[in-house]
This record gives sequence, C-alpha cells and structure tokens, in this order.
Amino acid sequence: MIDDFIEMAKHTNRSSTGANKKCYVFGEYVLLCYNGYVDLNDEIAPKKVAIMQLLMQRGVNIAALIDYKKVDGISYELQLRAPGEELYDYDLYSSDENGHKKYLERLRSISSEGPEFYDKFVHDWNEILNSGLNIDPSKTGNFFYTPGKICFIDLNMRTMPLEKRKEYIYMEMSTVLRGGGLPWMCTSVSKEAVELIKTIYIKLGEAIIRAHGDIEAYIMQTDKYNDLGLSDYFQDYIKSTSRTI
Ligand SMILES: Nc1ncnc2c1ncn2[C@@H]1O[C@H](COP(=O)(O)OP(=O)(O)OP(=O)(O)O)[C@@H](O)[C@H]1O
Ligand SMILES: [Mg+2]
Repeated sequence: MIDDFIEMAKHTNRSSTGANKKCYVFGEYVLLCYNGYVDLNDEIAPKKVAIMQLLMQRGVNIAALIDYKKVDGISYELQLRAPGEELYDYDLYSSDENGHKKYLERLRSISSEGPEFYDKFVHDWNEILNSGLNIDPSKTGNFFYTPGKICFIDLNMRTMPLEKRKEYIYMEMSTVLRGGGLPWMCTSVSKEAVELIKTIYIKLGEAIIRAHGDIEAYIMQTDKYNDLGLSDYFQDYIKSTSRTI
C-alpha cells in the first residue's frame, strides 16, 4: 500500500513541509518523506512502530502510523491524517490584524474547553513521553486540534533522558496551548488574549494537579523515567501483553 502512495507523491505538489519532512496529503492519509537529517534507521523504526501501536491501543490521541519504507535511501512514513488542523497554524506572528483575530479565536476555543479536554491532554502527553517517544513542543504545528481533541504528531524516538526535561514539562504544555512564545506580540495588543491565556494556565494546572496530586508530585513522578530507550513502564506493559520489541 505504501508503494502506491510513494508513487503518487512523485506526481503531487507537496502540501506542507516541516524542518525534516515533506508531507503529502491524500484524503485520509498522509505520506511523510524524510529529508535524511532526521531519519528512521533500521534499528529505531520497528521500535517506533511498536510503541505507536501500543499507544494507539491505549487510546492515546496520536496520528496512526500505518507503514514505513526506505526507497533509494529515502525514508517514508504512511500515517492517517490527523483530525482538524494545526493547533496554531496561522500567521500569528505578523502584526497583521487578521492573524491576531484568528489567534484570539483559537485562544477562546482552547480556554473554553472543559476539564476532560485538559485531563486528556496531560494524560496523553505523559503516556507519550513515558513510552520512549519524544514530543517536539517547539512548533504548534506538531499538535492538531479539532474542538474537544488534540492529536499529537511528529513523534520521534527520544534521544535525551526524560529527567533532563522534567522541569520544563509544564512550561512546554502551557506554551503549546497558548500558541508558542511569539504570540506575546499579539497579547501586547490585546487584554483579552492575556485573560484567555491565564484561563488556559489555570485549567492546565488543575488538570496536572488532578493527575498527580500536586505539581511537585507531578515533577517527581517523571524521575522514574530517566532511561534513554523504552521506559520500565512500557517494558512491563509489553511483557504483560507478551509482545516483543
Ligand atoms: N498525520 C498527519 N496528519 C496531518 N498532517 C500532518 C501529519 N503529519 C504531518 N503533517 C503535516 O506535515 C507537517 C510536517 O510534519 P512533521 O511535523 O512530522 O515534520 P517535521 O519536518 O519533523 O516537522 P518540524 O518542522 O516540526 O521538525 C506538520 O506540521 C503537519 O502540517
Ligand atoms: Mg513538525
């Protein structure tokens, strides 16, 4: 199946490009074409597929990975198209009024989400990090949004111990939900944006407290997952389901 998409991609204008992959959209599917700077090597690809399958079985909102293949030295990944659109995919960073308007609309939408939305976001974020995959929070395009739901994309095997990131996790989550760092330029012209961001911070903080007792406990619990590869958590899970990686 992936061969057909690789062939179709040759005759298609690419739809969007990140720093490392080109993305071709075909209806419900997307074909990602790696540029080689970041790659799916033979050692990590099967692990990544197995982890993503486990995450999906556990109901974590990630874009489903269907298949992967290397052709003429280029790696491809076939995924299901994530529902919705990039969390903040607008021209937020210009002084353009339209960009500000769209930014505010998205902030209103996120800030009016209920507790279950925030609980799920925190839950899925933790599950993904604890699984041995990494989330890249530096781009809000790595999170797809449709009202009520966030889907995580652009997940790669983690190369850095999770321990080093623990102080940053709350900061990263909140930065993603408010649309990155640069939108502060927009907030400087809008009191409403500041208020909406505060609401998002409070709702996110409450979700973290619900999940982990308190924020300190939340930070502490990430101590358990300081290995480079699969965490104990997932090793146990894999054993319990008799899967091998
Ligand atoms: N499953 C998917 N569903 C819908 N769109 C997707 C999907 N995967 C990727 N895309 C689109 O392609 C873009 C690039 O994909 P991705 O983020 O995986 O690549 P990248 O080059 O690693 O990105 P980055 O610039 O964040 O490093 C995404 O921002 C998104 O717009
Ligand atoms: Mg990306």
